[in-house]
Amino acid sequence: MSFLCGLEFSCDDSCISFFNNNNVVFSKIYKQSFIHMKFKGVVPNVALHEHIHGLGILFDWVFYDKFLIQQVIYTKGPGLNGSLFVGIVFSKLLAFFLNVSTIGVSHIEGHILSIFISFKFFSFPYVALLISGGHTFLVYVRGFMKYVLLGCSIDDSIGEVFDKVASYLNFGYPGGPVIESLSVNNDFFFNFMLPHPFFYQYGFNFSFSGLKTCTRNFINFSKNTINEVNICASFQNNSVDILLFKTIMILKYTNVRTLVIVGGCSANYFLCKKFSFFLKSSNVSVLSPSLEFCTDNASMITLIGYYYLKWGKYMCDEQFCCAYPMLDICSV
Ligand code: KG4
Ligand code: ZN
Repeated sequence: MSFLCGLEFSCDDSCISFFNNNNVVFSKIYKQSFIHMKFKGVVPNVALHEHIHGLGILFDWVFYDKFLIQQVIYTKGPGLNGSLFVGIVFSKLLAFFLNVSTIGVSHIEGHILSIFISFKFFSFPYVALLISGGHTFLVYVRGFMKYVLLGCSIDDSIGEVFDKVASYLNFGYPGGPVIESLSVNNDFFFNFMLPHPFFYQYGFNFSFSGLKTCTRNFINFSKNTINEVNICASFQNNSVDILLFKTIMILKYTNVRTLVIVGGCSANYFLCKKFSFFLKSSNVSVLSPSLEFCTDNASMITLIGYYYLKWGKYMCDEQFCCAYPMLDICSV
């Protein structure tokens, strides 16, 4: 049996995955969040060093499989330069010593198609809402390699804002899961008067920096008087409203009836529940990958390599870049 080996080292998680055909046979993540926690965010240099440490750990786990690797697939970007560097150099060396070739794939494309890990016979077209620590994108997915970027955040990404708000409240990193768990028993429509910036402005694009600043001011001015739980619930509710509003606009514009929510923040149960609730009446089905494939993972990277090989679309890294002008430009 031969395997495709995928490596994802773009941010703060060292991930490896093995595929046999399009089945995940092995998937492991060495998480660094316990280190970045004390800095309340990812520190690029620390991430680089931890990836080198992570490589040792990952390859201790998979040592016995190494001679059966048929192809090495790695994340070529976007991401933190140091982290990407470790992943790319290691992948190239591994491929060299095993005498196999490499494919560099886009992290964004990995997230966008990650739904196919959980639903193998999923069909196009769909609208993908990519919400992660690095990106907030609304993409019209017409097929494999046919992506139209329709909206993106003009400032902070949504995951970044979750992390920042958590750090204002001294909750550590990553902020999303803490904010979600604190908000869990709050009213579905609970809301302080936080703003809904860009609701009616700038077409399909988002802006979250105003909401972030407003939440920070709110925290500073209402110290000791307002419950943290309520702040978290309000912030979460407001940010979900902003995402929902623009997504509805895009669904109407494209007339597509399937919405796929991907990226780290799609692990947020409240968010997915609210989207499903409001889109049910328009007959839009809302789906997300299973929880382990919402946040960064190597299986989404290996999957792209699998499709690449299957459909004979193998290209060198440079050609691959050119095939994604929109996504490459917007992800810098
Ligand atoms: O996709 P991801 O693992 O990495 C990037 O590509 O950036 O996303 C990480 C982001 C972090 O900002 C984290 O706070 C957020 O996903 N996140 C969440 C939840 N779990 C992770 N945000 C909201 N609710 C969650 N349950
Ligand atoms: Zn990601």
